[in-house]
Amino acid sequence: MLLFPARGLFRPARGPLRATPRPHPRRGSSGSGRRWLLSTPIFYVNGPPHIGHLYSALLADALHRQRGLLGPGPGLLATGTDEHGLKIQQAAATAGTSPPELCAHVSSLFRDLFSQAGVSFTDFIRTTEPRHRRAVQHFWVALRDRGLLYKGVYEGWYCTPDECFLPEAQLTERPDAHGRSCKVSLESGHQVHWTKEENYMFKLSEFQEPLQKWLQGNHHVISPEPFYQLVLRWLEEDLPDLSVSRERSRLQWGIPVPDDSTQTIYVWVDALVNYLTVAGYPDTHQAWWPAAYHVVGKDILKFHAIYWPALLMAMGLDPPRQIYVHSHWTVHGQKMSKSLGNVVDPVACFNQYTVDGFRYFLLRQGVPERDCDYSEEKVIKLVNSELADALGGLLNRCTAPSINPSGTYPHFSESCFRKGSDQGASSRALAEDYELVALVAHLPRQVTDYFDHFQIYKALESIIACVRQTNGFFQRHAPWKLCRDNPAEKCWLDTILHVTLECLRIYGILLQPVIPATADRLLSRLAVKPEERAFTDVTFLPRYHGKLSPFEGRRLGPDTGVLFHKLETTRRRPMETKGP
Ligand code: MSP
Repeated sequence: MLLFPARGLFRPARGPLRATPRPHPRRGSSGSGRRWLLSTPIFYVNGPPHIGHLYSALLADALHRQRGLLGPGPGLLATGTDEHGLKIQQAAATAGTSPPELCAHVSSLFRDLFSQAGVSFTDFIRTTEPRHRRAVQHFWVALRDRGLLYKGVYEGWYCTPDECFLPEAQLTERPDAHGRSCKVSLESGHQVHWTKEENYMFKLSEFQEPLQKWLQGNHHVISPEPFYQLVLRWLEEDLPDLSVSRERSRLQWGIPVPDDSTQTIYVWVDALVNYLTVAGYPDTHQAWWPAAYHVVGKDILKFHAIYWPALLMAMGLDPPRQIYVHSHWTVHGQKMSKSLGNVVDPVACFNQYTVDGFRYFLLRQGVPERDCDYSEEKVIKLVNSELADALGGLLNRCTAPSINPSGTYPHFSESCFRKGSDQGASSRALAEDYELVALVAHLPRQVTDYFDHFQIYKALESIIACVRQTNGFFQRHAPWKLCRDNPAEKCWLDTILHVTLECLRIYGILLQPVIPATADRLLSRLAVKPEERAFTDVTFLPRYHGKLSPFEGRRLGPDTGVLFHKLETTRRRPMETKGP
């Protein structure tokens, strides 16, 4: 089954992949459809990374890896840190350090985490880098020269943790630490402060209609669908102009407005332009734009689905091609917060569950449409049942020396497993076996469709359902009961092993974007060469279709170790806590 025309090779990444810029055809010329610039949000450096941040990055990484397996690209995956703004200025002051020191330290925590997590980023941008400052200032001057900025006195409630002004309708009253009533953001719960200052304003209101038109003609531009509908509803409301600078006297930690030393560029404009910086703006971005795909959390949707496209339109650039939105992780049903002390450290999770175990949990359990809950019990139960037992167990069963003494990919017998209706007396395959073959043959297309619709969890669900069915196939035919000395039984035994190994090969290929190291181990054990691992030529069970199989008779890989070790809980069971 040849799914896609181009053939590609994707190097399984064990750390950041370096960008090797290749010459790209210009927009509109052949090949431009395959290009992508995937991004994560850039992360604030006011605190260390947590599992919510990691989730954003893993979603983008899985999409990037999956696209790489569909063909040669070219594709970029950009991530990085958002280092300017009042929030960082205040965090540095609280920590008794300088903003540059705080930024360098926390930025390296993110970078190290993503490298450890196998996030295959091709660029890690810091907004304090000179290339970014140049891009932002260039962007500002172009906006100004197009007549889209004006100076005005801005009054309103500013929320520093969210770095935005909020209208009265989005506020509520809550008691502060001293019991005094104070105004907070309805959405984030963070306190707001009344601010009045002279700012530059961006004529956002002029873009209400163009934004509506862009979205109405482009149903899939924001996924999942409920977020698309949400943005459409926002656009039915009043869309006031946007304050895009702060007085320098209040905010020194930021990029100065060109030709006006009294003002600093608003941190969100600064941050959003990072997507152009990584594309080489203002020099080479046309090679990538508009092939931009942004992964964002629901809390920053308005910035990406309204402000950013409007800014791009204002510059005569196309809006992003797609915005993938995800919801949030809670912990035992509660929002993660420093004050509750329930922030989950991703590095500790890697130590406890392994990198692939935790990647699998987040991407399998995370449903972008709704908030998802983390608990140690859930991780252990899911990962043990699906990776250790179902997948690892299946590999173990069909490669164990007792059942597969030759250590090869055995022969498939067409007479034991006759094709479709052509069943003769010698055929041992049952109706459920044909169902399994049909299901696995369809799986690569199904998985690709789920990835295209930003439903990675569904892709994993369908893979694991097939893994379970394959275990059922193996169990049903109990090959361990067959006698190798009997030629007819040996033929069928080998066929059972061949079919099972073929299923595992497909699962290994399809799991690469999510659990790259485990998939690599699985495929190496099956002796699948690196150039045989692309999604482009996933030909399942060619022998069943009367074609040659390059795997038949091949020696299996030498690593006979356990594919995925069972995880253990850190909590002691009640029995263990009792004294002697
Ligand atoms: N700096 C801005 C983004 C600028 S992009 C041009 C920002 N940074 S952040 O560090 O606060 O958040 C980064 C990402 O982490 C966002 O997508 C946000 O939704 C995500 N998460 C933060 N907490 C989260 C959870 N508890 N769960 C899942 N993701 C969450 O916003």
